[in-house]
Amino acid sequence: MSLGEKKVVVIGGSSGMGLAVAKMAANEGADVVIAGRSVEKLRRAADEIRQPVETRPLDVTQEREVKEFFAETGELDHLVVTAATGVTGGFLELDTASFRQVFDSKFWGQYFAARYGAQRIREGGSLTLFSGVAAAKPMAGLSAYAAVNGAVEALCRSLAVELAPLRVNAVSPGIVDTPAYAGMNPSERKKMFDSLAARLPARRVGRPEDVAAAVVALMKNGYATGSVVCVDGGYRLV
Ligand SMILES: NC(=O)c1ccc[n+]([C@@H]2O[C@H](COP(=O)([O-])OP(=O)(O)OC[C@H]3O[C@@H](n4cnc5c(N)ncnc54)[C@H](OP(=O)(O)O)[C@@H]3O)[C@@H](O)[C@H]2O)c1
Repeated sequence: MSLGEKKVVVIGGSSGMGLAVAKMAANEGADVVIAGRSVEKLRRAADEIRQPVETRPLDVTQEREVKEFFAETGELDHLVVTAATGVTGGFLELDTASFRQVFDSKFWGQYFAARYGAQRIREGGSLTLFSGVAAAKPMAGLSAYAAVNGAVEALCRSLAVELAPLRVNAVSPGIVDTPAYAGMNPSERKKMFDSLAARLPARRVGRPEDVAAAVVALMKNGYATGSVVCVDGGYRLV
């Protein structure tokens, strides 16, 4: 199965793993739509993809915007949601508003996308959600992500049953070098990536394309549904 002539919508497609998915799908001849909040990021992403893609500003945390987005988009074949933002921090130090913001962005964003996007997905299509290694591997400072990723995985499995025959899967990345870490001091970031790489069975941190390849495989595999695919270099094991 190829993605040629399929319509692929990537919410979060202007950066990191979403951008890598958009590139791969566009290279296979898909009709790609990328969405995110920043028009400038969308423009830069479209230049980087080097294939015609549609760019659509969207804040996935805003229910009405998401509803209108899908009404305008019409029918599609594959929907991928990588959009998320949020802070990390110790459970007792992080205030409630910050913990809640992780859910507003990563859980409710994916919920709204599924709620309004799923019914537009054509027969044979798929919905791919994004979880993360924190769901499976408890780490100090990541309780909000652990909780939100666990919620996304539970939602994925439920929707795979309830929305069948629509296929619903989730991808759980490990630490992947994306612009999500752009706010870190570059030498601190390198130190963190190097020390993690030394511990990981894969001996390196992830690249956006590692994860995008799994997303594209899930889109194409007509027998994969309710799966949570870990692409984490073995991080959950060590
Ligand atoms: N990178 C990692 O190490 C890692 C590890 C585990 C899990 N993950 C998960 O993997 C997913 C992708 O992460 P990434 O590293 O590729 O992130 P990224 O490079 O920061 O990209 C995030 C994308 O989402 C968009 N976005 C953020 N908030 C949005 C909103 N409210 N509405 C619409 N679009 C929004 C961003 O564009 P705008 O800012 O312009 O909106 C951007 O296109 C996330 O769910 C993340 O939690 C990442």
